[in-house]
Amino acid sequence: MASAVAETRIIQAQDDDMKAAVREAVALLAAGEIVALPTETVYGLGADALNPAAVARVFEAKERPAFDPLIVHIGSVKQLDEVAVIPAEIEETVHKLISAFWPGPLTLVLPKTPQIPDLVTSGQPTVAVRQSANKVFRAIGKELGRPIAAPSANRFGRISPTSASAVLKELDGRIPLIVDAGACRDGLESTIVRIESGEKRPEIHILRPGPVTKKELQNFGRVVVEKKRLIDAPEAPGQLASHYAPRTPLLMFDDPREFRAEPGKRYGLLSYKEDPKAGYLGLHDWAVVEALSPGSGKLPEAAVRLFHVMRTLDEAGLDFIVAEPVSDVGLGQAIMDRLRRAATAGD
Ligand code: TXA
Ligand code: MG
Repeated sequence: MASAVAETRIIQAQDDDMKAAVREAVALLAAGEIVALPTETVYGLGADALNPAAVARVFEAKERPAFDPLIVHIGSVKQLDEVAVIPAEIEETVHKLISAFWPGPLTLVLPKTPQIPDLVTSGQPTVAVRQSANKVFRAIGKELGRPIAAPSANRFGRISPTSASAVLKELDGRIPLIVDAGACRDGLESTIVRIESGEKRPEIHILRPGPVTKKELQNFGRVVVEKKRLIDAPEAPGQLASHYAPRTPLLMFDDPREFRAEPGKRYGLLSYKEDPKAGYLGLHDWAVVEALSPGSGKLPEAAVRLFHVMRTLDEAGLDFIVAEPVSDVGLGQAIMDRLRRAATAGD
């Protein structure tokens, strides 16, 4: 069980309040404390990546198994050398990806330096590293002057938080501070890739789909989407089949006609755009309907709202959530990845 702290405070970091919030977060991080921080993807639970005792607190607060390594966030590209070693054969590709996508939601898996504690990488010889684009996160990283290890700020296996209030629901009483910079821009965790030199062209292996899409990565090499679902030794345990799970069972069907309501149960519909043509709206007398992108059906809006809508439905006292699939292209691949994992919870 995670040890309790007296109180979890939320500090505003918008506009005029930013400096004071940054100062407070940096003071805690420098003292080996853990702090929930905004990033452009989801809120992270940050710790000084070079302080193993601080990193251990992250695992404790999240109840995260030690086999699941953390992402390290660097404040500047110069800091990359402190964290990772770039093999010569992939150096050119790594630099191209960095200039195209950093700061931003692309995480690179690279060989680690000896400075990175084994706890951060779960004993693996590689480290997952990215530079966040969030203004507040960047200011904190810069002032701290050290890399920040930060997994998503939810309890293990649960829905990632995209707002300070969602972090509070996950970690209240377990962490001293949440830095609130409003809703996250992207709403889905970063795309994680591993790079290989390949025979003819570089190979970019997607370990977790995210805001940087397969199509965007294809400009830099041959893209391979890893389908591995290893539970014992997961390559990116965010790939665990059951993850991002609401407490309410979530169902997804290849064809809406497969849905059969059990009498007396309350069902909620997680709709893409509340389009009757999708075949779900008229199927049942839903207790609640929540749309990811009401009316327009835009994938970026759906991505931003996904975890928020999952959480809202989870709190609605339903017996089941039925999720309409979205198109499995572009950003839709990352959304479908999260929905499928939410649907396999309890397997
Ligand atoms: O957008 C994000 O990536 C957010 C924000 C806070 O930066 N972070 C995030 O962290 O999603 P987390 O811990 O929830 O997911 C990190 C994933 C895990 O699935 C972990 O297994 C994988 O990254 N990972 C970390 N180190 C790895 C490594 N060396 N090799 C392969 N996968 C790794
Ligand atoms: Mg996570």
